[in-house]
Amino acid sequence: MSLFDLRGQTALVTGARKGIGFAMASTLAECGADIIAVSSNQGADDELAARVKGFGRSFSHYTIDLRVREETKQLVAELGNRQIDILINNAGIANRAEVLDHTDEQWDEILEIDLSAPFILSRDIAKGMAARQYGKIIFTASMWTFLGGKNVISYTAAKSALGGLVRGLSNELLPLGIRVNGIAPGFIETDINNRVRQDKARFEFLTSRIPIGRWGKPEDLSGTTLFLASKASDYVSGVVIPVDGGYLAN
Ligand SMILES: NC(=O)c1ccc[n+]([C@@H]2O[C@H](COP(=O)([O-])OP(=O)(O)OC[C@H]3O[C@@H](n4cnc5c(N)ncnc54)[C@H](OP(=O)(O)O)[C@@H]3O)[C@@H](O)[C@H]2O)c1
Repeated sequence: MSLFDLRGQTALVTGARKGIGFAMASTLAECGADIIAVSSNQGADDELAARVKGFGRSFSHYTIDLRVREETKQLVAELGNRQIDILINNAGIANRAEVLDHTDEQWDEILEIDLSAPFILSRDIAKGMAARQYGKIIFTASMWTFLGGKNVISYTAAKSALGGLVRGLSNELLPLGIRVNGIAPGFIETDINNRVRQDKARFEFLTSRIPIGRWGKPEDLSGTTLFLASKASDYVSGVVIPVDGGYLAN
């Protein structure tokens, strides 16, 4: 079990207040990591704080808007040289619009939160990791890292670029002791796809395409998150692992 022991380590998770990020942060805390949670509505005493403290770990939080470059930079400045061993770039949004109606504003917003903020946080937090010769950087990618999707062109562009970011960062950071990987969730039941799931016909069509026969829960990502965050994956870097109930193979 020592392969998965995170005691003494600190993990920063963006988008930790709910959904996939909540499950990721909970898992890391359960396995011993202290948690720095970052979200646009992150609270000091919310459900995640209680969960993390319940596992006997320390919890701190930052409430920032990752669509705003200055706020991302301010976060880096406030973190200073605080030790961060695990960085999970998870916060994200998806704007649905047909490509001919996709606005510049939608494009810029998605690219900023789904691609630029993860790059900035990785680059700046990697400096401290490099000084300590150890770190794990994980991105929440998507099936649209590999496929085209429909009516989510900026999301597809950003998530596809995350695949390049994983490979390029891995090439440069691995010699400094930092492993860089991604997780590509399939269809996971969270607020990001509430509207899609309320459309009965669409929900049933999508479900019929998932070989395992159901949508995922955020907890379905826990095992892969722990694997990539822990020593168990020390010889793994530069890959994006699908956790999708078999969707990509279908
Ligand atoms: N669910 C899926 O099927 C699926 C599939 C593939 C990939 N993903 C990816 O998984 C990641 C997490 O999404 P989710 O499904 O868990 O959705 P979610 O339940 O809507 O959670 C999104 C999280 O991101 C945070 N966030 C959103 N906008 C932000 C902003 N401007 N600044 C800071 N934080 C912000 C939210 O903060 P607040 O809680 O404070 O609002 C929330 O904690 C995203 O990158 C998404 O693209 C999801």
